[in-house]
Amino acid sequence: MTLYEELKTALTAAGQEQLLRFWPELDENGRGRLAAQIRVLDLRALPELIAGYVLRRPETAVPPDLHPAPYFPATPRNTEEAELYRVAEARGRELIASGRMAALTVAGGQGTRLGFDGPKGTFPIAPVSGKSLFRYFAETLRRAGEKYGHAITWYIMTSELNRQATETFFREHGFFGLEPEQVVFFTQGTMPAIGYDGKLLLAAKDSLALSPDGHGGTLLALRKSGALDRMACEGTDVISYFQVDNPLAPMVHPLFLGLHELQNSEMSAIMLPKTGPFEKLGNFCVSGGKLEIIEYSDLPDDLAQSRNPDGTLRFIAGSPAIHLISRSFVERLTAGGSLRLPWHRADKKVPYVDDAGNPVTPEAPNAVKLESFIFDALPLAERTLVLEGDRAAMFAPTKNRTGVDSVESCRAMLMERDARWLEKAGVRVPRDGAGVLQARVEFSPLAAIDAADAADYVRRTGLREIDPGSERYLE
Ligand code: UTP
Repeated sequence: MTLYEELKTALTAAGQEQLLRFWPELDENGRGRLAAQIRVLDLRALPELIAGYVLRRPETAVPPDLHPAPYFPATPRNTEEAELYRVAEARGRELIASGRMAALTVAGGQGTRLGFDGPKGTFPIAPVSGKSLFRYFAETLRRAGEKYGHAITWYIMTSELNRQATETFFREHGFFGLEPEQVVFFTQGTMPAIGYDGKLLLAAKDSLALSPDGHGGTLLALRKSGALDRMACEGTDVISYFQVDNPLAPMVHPLFLGLHELQNSEMSAIMLPKTGPFEKLGNFCVSGGKLEIIEYSDLPDDLAQSRNPDGTLRFIAGSPAIHLISRSFVERLTAGGSLRLPWHRADKKVPYVDDAGNPVTPEAPNAVKLESFIFDALPLAERTLVLEGDRAAMFAPTKNRTGVDSVESCRAMLMERDARWLEKAGVRVPRDGAGVLQARVEFSPLAAIDAADAADYVRRTGLREIDPGSERYLE
């Protein structure tokens, strides 16, 4: 059977023979590219996927027994809890110092809302120095390695679409002072864009319209790329997971780590108290005894708005996508070389070539992209835990250019956090009557990754005051 016949047979069975429409016009390279893309598709599963997620909208009914998830509060409620936190924090420090924790950044997204040409991690986020997100994380890890006495390995998940640009960025910047072997890139899977008629789209005559398969793709990609094996070799037991667009993410959090370990948790999560019933954060819930996250768009209004007798929101716990994941959990989930997390449908404008071979840029959504989400692994864990975090210290997402969750709000939060560290260390920081910062300040993570570092810095340098209207980069 020729290559063409082989592909044609498989595609016809899946109702996707249109993908070979331009085959006669393609050269060897083009045919090779298209064939390779088609071969990695799970063609057998495709018809069911299309019927369930594209031709009709999947049901998003929430389970009837949905309850708010319990969580450990940021501040212990009693002496027993205070003792647990003390022991946990010490345990967490040991875990980092013995090299049992690795950091993992998911950076495979397309960052469409930011509208930036290049991988999101290369975006110059730092308010004064203009450091990129990747540099900011790298320097945080360098300082953490120094502080805890053990270099931390950093796993970075990219997609096929941004892997090369990401690696080149690191190489061109000397890995930001990290050892190159300390940084491990791995690539997530892709999913084809599916037109509303159930047909896969071609982005070019010799190429499918593909996009990354969602941050849920992390788990299988860890297995397939060999990253899990490397973790086992290096004695990494816990993965500190966070998103590339949050420079405040607590990459190294001893209390969280210690609790994760002491409670034997397989997957843990930081929660933030939501600012209101409809804040766009996933909601931590429990159903059938299992922890799960219900997306903000799926939580019915009456539940979102329901309140406790003291007036607080019942479903108060929102997710900033900060997790600890045990390596053994990922090994268990992906043991057979596959993992079925639920798919989530997103309607998108996907450019394609039409039947006549003309490129089309649609004005309105024309296709479905399917993604899996990391938090859908939570109900698969035997044991989980949720710890309350401090929003101002941990969560500054950079999704948009301006407005909510934007470059602007992220920079303001970074400066505010650094100003608080300075104030705590006794430095006078200019603020107006409403408390708004009247200077631009930024700590290099190499100088300070926490309040204790900042206090050391102030002691060392004798810094007393920040001048109103000034711009200070503290390194
Ligand atoms: P978002 O859901 O914010 O998506 O990803 P995005 O692609 O970055 O941005 P938009 O929606 O196109 O504007 C949250 C985090 O998950 C990662 C992103 O890189 C980001 O760190 N992610 C998302 C992946 O690593 N892979 C994916 O397939 C999707």
